[in-house]
Amino acid sequence: MHGRRDPPCGTSCSVARANHERALWHFVSFYGDPMAAFDATIAADPGWGLARVIKAVFILTLTEPGMVPQARQLLVEAEPLMAGAPLHEQAHLGAARAALAGRWREACARWDTMLLDHPRDLLALSAAHLFDFYRGDARSLRARVARVLPEWPVEDPLQPYVLGMHAFGLEECNLYPQAEAAGREALARDPRGPWAIHAVAHVMEMQGRHAEGAAWLQERRTYWAVDNGLAIHLWWHQALFRLETLDTAAALALFDAHIAGSASTVNLQWLDGAALLWRAQLLEADVGTRWQALAGDWADPVAHAGHYAFNDVHAMLALLGSGELARAQALLSACTERANADNEEMTREVGAPLMRGLMAFAQGDAAQACRLLYPLRTVAHHFGGSHAQRDLIDQTLLAAADTALGHALLNERRLAKPVTPLTAYWAVRIGSRRAAAH
Ligand SMILES: [Fe+2]
Repeated sequence: MHGRRDPPCGTSCSVARANHERALWHFVSFYGDPMAAFDATIAADPGWGLARVIKAVFILTLTEPGMVPQARQLLVEAEPLMAGAPLHEQAHLGAARAALAGRWREACARWDTMLLDHPRDLLALSAAHLFDFYRGDARSLRARVARVLPEWPVEDPLQPYVLGMHAFGLEECNLYPQAEAAGREALARDPRGPWAIHAVAHVMEMQGRHAEGAAWLQERRTYWAVDNGLAIHLWWHQALFRLETLDTAAALALFDAHIAGSASTVNLQWLDGAALLWRAQLLEADVGTRWQALAGDWADPVAHAGHYAFNDVHAMLALLGSGELARAQALLSACTERANADNEEMTREVGAPLMRGLMAFAQGDAAQACRLLYPLRTVAHHFGGSHAQRDLIDQTLLAAADTALGHALLNERRLAKPVTPLTAYWAVRIGSRRAAAH
């Protein structure tokens, strides 16, 4: 549906417009092959610059350093095509350039300005939402979507996807009942909404509703596990629900079946695998040779270091897990040398000290790990990810902490997850340390 508030369109080719609409659906739903839709749009009207810009923006949202040259080339090609384009489409080129240069905050600000005039610009909204996530900007995850949501008629087939974004933003702002209600409402309109399914899974994760969460994902498996870009991440969530019951064998079985090997091909997928193995190992599970396999699959993390601190920290987990301390040190050095633009700040403030803390932990220096990790908890969101993902820091601290710190962390944890087996497990470990100290 198009109306006054929809963005102006720089092509009169109906096939290109139809392909662009399909590409936007791929973008927000994570289903299928968005790249094919982008290419079909470009082929239908090679003179439409925005068709190249949206493909570049999508590539940049993958945070995949090896694909950045492809995005850069698309924007170079788009530039001469944009001279006669509507100003709104030219503004998209400006936002995409900022994202390409690593100025993610500026890119989000540019997309935000565009949304004020055209609140149903789904490209601007989707891109800003993902970069809000990568920047750990929880407020904007919620509020940016809230500013445009009422402009979407409920009968629009893409409205449930916007509502799903809002659900996730609410969850990251700790507004759990509202988040769950928004996610369920989105799915009542269209059950094929992986981002809404994901948002409700996060609510259940944060509230310690692990049995309900496992059932939630299992019952909706056909909507997220097949031909969907979020599948591996949602398998990771399913594995977290297993870990909450201390069933490390089941969690590792999910890793083997759905995350390991050729299932994962980009940083955003390998990092879920690393986060899962790290947590399983904190629970003293024997993960066998999975670390070595994961580190072997990871496409040269040292060469690609410095693109995004959150990904780099997870590559560090894989190297530490597989015992490659020299490469881990090389990764840290490469990150601090190469990080620029917004990622320089993220690396300096969170990424590098977090890597040092994880290295200390892996080398058995628990006291140094605590000194480095504990102060990061209040700023760790500045390098993005979700509450659930950053819980890895807390769990590492619980494994490393002396009795007083461990007891304090446990008190805090009990507020959110008072009765889960995982909380009880940490209580026993902290308690046994306390007994040993007296
Ligand atoms: Fe998640």
